[in-house]
Amino acid sequence: MNPTILLLPGDGIGPEVVAAAVVVLRAVGDRFGHAFALTEAPIGGAALRRGLPPLPAETLQAAYAADAILLGAVGDPEFDRGDSSRRPESALLGIRRELKLYANLRPAKVWPGLENAGPLKPEVLAGTDLLVVRELTGGLYYGEPRGTDGDSAFNTMRYSRGEVRRIARRGFDAARRRRRRVTSVDKANVLETSRLWRQVVTEVARDYRNVALDHMYVDACAMKIALAPASFDVILTENLFGDILSDEAGAIVGSLGLLPSASLGDGRGLFEPVHGSAPDIAGKDIANPIGAIASAAMLLRHALQLDAEAAAVENAIGDVLREGLRTADLASAGGHPVGTRGMGERIAAVVREAGL
Ligand code: IPM
Ligand code: MG
Repeated sequence: MNPTILLLPGDGIGPEVVAAAVVVLRAVGDRFGHAFALTEAPIGGAALRRGLPPLPAETLQAAYAADAILLGAVGDPEFDRGDSSRRPESALLGIRRELKLYANLRPAKVWPGLENAGPLKPEVLAGTDLLVVRELTGGLYYGEPRGTDGDSAFNTMRYSRGEVRRIARRGFDAARRRRRRVTSVDKANVLETSRLWRQVVTEVARDYRNVALDHMYVDACAMKIALAPASFDVILTENLFGDILSDEAGAIVGSLGLLPSASLGDGRGLFEPVHGSAPDIAGKDIANPIGAIASAAMLLRHALQLDAEAAAVENAIGDVLREGLRTADLASAGGHPVGTRGMGERIAAVVREAGL
């Protein structure tokens, strides 16, 4: 198999974590006999620095031409001024919209050896294995009208039945392959969009008789993630709520740096760690590349249907964490300190060894 993977390293720690993921992808290629064709394009601040728009037309074209996309991070304090369309983040929102990537899957689980890495008591965290299914191309992020009006500023939260229906299906489909429970998260006691959300999710649930559905308000859900995270299987929610709850999920399992994501539509998918560009630690070889490497595993599974290859990467991450390798964000969990590059190289080595 010779699939084309477009790399969009982006800003801050993006290039470092993508480079570590590439080392692992090459190990997968060698072990399983695939010649991945890797191409690269600028996005976000990296594009602005070259005098290009945040999402250059050539980058978008390369995205359409690729079988899958692996993105690092976008966000650069140097370009924080100005209107939203010139900010690096607009590139991420733009590519999600252009590629119609409405379904964002963000799994979070306790890794072996990291039971103590987060702020929760290990017995509270034990058994946590949840999946946030976040709607990614609607809601407040994209709603019109938006803007400023003298001393005021405004955004619009809007959802159509069709938008809710298609993301709900993704959530239930995912639950079918997991523990068959969906918690739909909204704010139906206040918001019209949430009342529509709840109604449509309830309708979709009728097609999934073997999946249990419950509804929860987003504030209660935020609390329960901290108090009883193992009680969740699939958390199905709209764009902004999913953004917030997925950071919380990252914190409780030990580090946001561990979390991968898949952004899927009806065509090619984009895969990226949940963390941001972390400019304060960029270029120091201290960022955790596991979120990016686990995103590469999701790419193998969801975009290329290479399930054994994806499992090999995920098993290697588990092995290396069990060995005690720790990037700086996981220092509180004890073990041996390692840099971004070292972590990627060790995971790649385990992928190769496992094939011997
Ligand atoms: C994320 C990020 C993005 C978002 C930002 C960088 C636009 O926080 O992917 O979670 O809010 O979706
Ligand atoms: Mg976020």
